[in-house]
Amino acid sequence: MPTVGLIQSSVSLTASAKLTILAAKERAIENINIAIAGAGRMGKAVAESIEQDSAFGLIGTWRRGGDIEALVGAADVVVDFSMPDGTEVVVEAAVKYKKPLVCGVSGLSDKQMAKLDAAGSQIALVFDRNMSLGIAVLERTVRNAAATLGRDFAVTISETHHVHKKDAPSGTALKLGEAIASSRGESGTGQIQFEVERRGEVPGDHEVVMSSATERLSFTHSVTTRRVFALGALRAAQWLVGQPPGLYSMQDVLFGKR
Ligand SMILES: NC(=O)c1ccc[n+]([C@@H]2O[C@H](COP(=O)([O-])OP(=O)(O)OC[C@H]3O[C@@H](n4cnc5c(N)ncnc54)[C@H](OP(=O)(O)O)[C@@H]3O)[C@@H](O)[C@H]2O)c1
Repeated sequence: MPTVGLIQSSVSLTASAKLTILAAKERAIENINIAIAGAGRMGKAVAESIEQDSAFGLIGTWRRGGDIEALVGAADVVVDFSMPDGTEVVVEAAVKYKKPLVCGVSGLSDKQMAKLDAAGSQIALVFDRNMSLGIAVLERTVRNAAATLGRDFAVTISETHHVHKKDAPSGTALKLGEAIASSRGESGTGQIQFEVERRGEVPGDHEVVMSSATERLSFTHSVTTRRVFALGALRAAQWLVGQPPGLYSMQDVLFGKR
């Protein structure tokens, strides 16, 4: 089980009263044992990040044909970077053993998303198609910008990823599009145009352009190493410990529950 430690600071109110208030500044949660689902690029990046951070331990990585129940049963938190059919199996095991789950898999079908949604009534679960802090901030920023600029501004989202990526447009591009569309009262990705490029080993570039007849506003985000997603997933794992059941996103992890 993870241990919860309180980092305390003392604040001297007045010299005469010598009154000291010990305030719990931050809850530092340590010794979180992680089971990873998916032994690909992201699964490996998460394992490497766990190795470099004493706050986490690695229970093991689930590979095709492996015993998911043994891993999930022994973990404090499960981190899933497999593929959509793998996610179905992982969610079932996490619900069965009542374990918090961080799922970063993109390209899930509506049915698979409904399964995650239903799991959120039984376990604490963070699902996000992009675990980076920068994209979480970008999502907030473009949502606010689009709400202010209104529908007179056309929006284009361009993304470039490595040639191995299977889904297109990327989950991140769709998520940014959905945030912008909903801020303008449109459903899904509304009127937003997407441009997709697959090139070399690019870990992930996104550009959002909002343009009218008289001006053009652009926002860009570039990933320099996919480790950023692993670190975000571990931050989400740490945040999940002790959370009540629910389906959360990185917006909740970084900015508090909506
Ligand atoms: N949320 C984020 O921030 C973020 C960031 C990067 C990537 N992603 C997403 O994360 C997922 C993984 O990305 P990746 O780059 O690591 O892909 P990858 O290198 O292709 O790795 C996927 C791994 O999952 C395994 N897998 C697939 N289906 C499985 C199943 N049914 N049972 C067991 N294992 C299974 C694969 O095994 P096999 O080789 O045997 O098929 C492979 O080891 C993708 O959906 C990607 O879009 C999300």
